[in-house]
Amino acid sequence: MNKKVVIGLIMTGMLMFAGCGQSGTDTVREASQAGNDQQTETAVDSPDTALAQSGEAIAEDAQAADTGNGEGVDVNVNGGSSDTLVVYFSRTGEQYEVGVIDKGNTAIVADMIVEQTGADVFEILPQEDYYPYTYDELTDVAKKEQNDNARPAYAGEVPDLSQYSTIFIGAPVWWGDWPMIMYTFFEENADALSGKNLIPFSTHAGSGLSGFDQKLSEACPNSTVGTGLAIAGTDAQNDPEKVRQSVGEWLSELGY
Ligand SMILES: Cc1cc2nc3c(=O)[nH]c(=O)nc-3n(C[C@H](O)[C@H](O)[C@H](O)COP(=O)(O)O)c2cc1C
Repeated sequence: MNKKVVIGLIMTGMLMFAGCGQSGTDTVREASQAGNDQQTETAVDSPDTALAQSGEAIAEDAQAADTGNGEGVDVNVNGGSSDTLVVYFSRTGEQYEVGVIDKGNTAIVADMIVEQTGADVFEILPQEDYYPYTYDELTDVAKKEQNDNARPAYAGEVPDLSQYSTIFIGAPVWWGDWPMIMYTFFEENADALSGKNLIPFSTHAGSGLSGFDQKLSEACPNSTVGTGLAIAGTDAQNDPEKVRQSVGEWLSELGY
């Protein structure tokens, strides 16, 4: 058995513990309850120390640096001839209740929207990818960003938004809210988003849309915000046909 396989097995064991066990569940439950409460502290129980340490070593070894979905900013725009754009943020690595994934839950839903609408796509990738590979560590970093009201920079150039009338915007729910990097996008592109039809979508572990629509309206007051869609992250990974159908029904209600 080579090193990568051994590492994979250890990681799988660790995730079964941290992702499906009490610790991970508590973390998300708290995240779900946190909503906008900026003061709520993360109380993340540590997984078994030895396993956690293995996880750190694994994270370094297992291409921890790239846990976004993109292969580079030059592939972010797909096509360029549609009047619809999908903008999304999504993480790979260890995610809640799905173990280690190589395609993010939100990325899966984004792809389905692209598939069914022929939209162009722009993936929000962090300029500096400091997000941890392991789930519990990621929740801590995300909580700190939220408490700090941070505006993490994203990589690459946003396509010329003037050609799009409708922009689908999706992300995982992080602590009851959009990940802070999405607010960077909303604010930096406030003028260009003005007058557009914005449609939010989320993936989540129980919190649904988490007010993404309301928060998007507040961040982009000169845009129209349409009916959003919330998909359970576990369904995105484990039941793509069901999700494809939900996406299809939602799109047809939106007139696609
Ligand atoms: C930092 C962090 C915070 C989270 N907070 C919540 C939450 O408040 N409510 C919820 O339902 N799920 C929460 N989750 C679970 C994610 O929303 C869910 O796993 C999502 O599908 C991940 O999507 P992605 O693979 O596209 O990043 C959180 C996950 C992370 C990593």
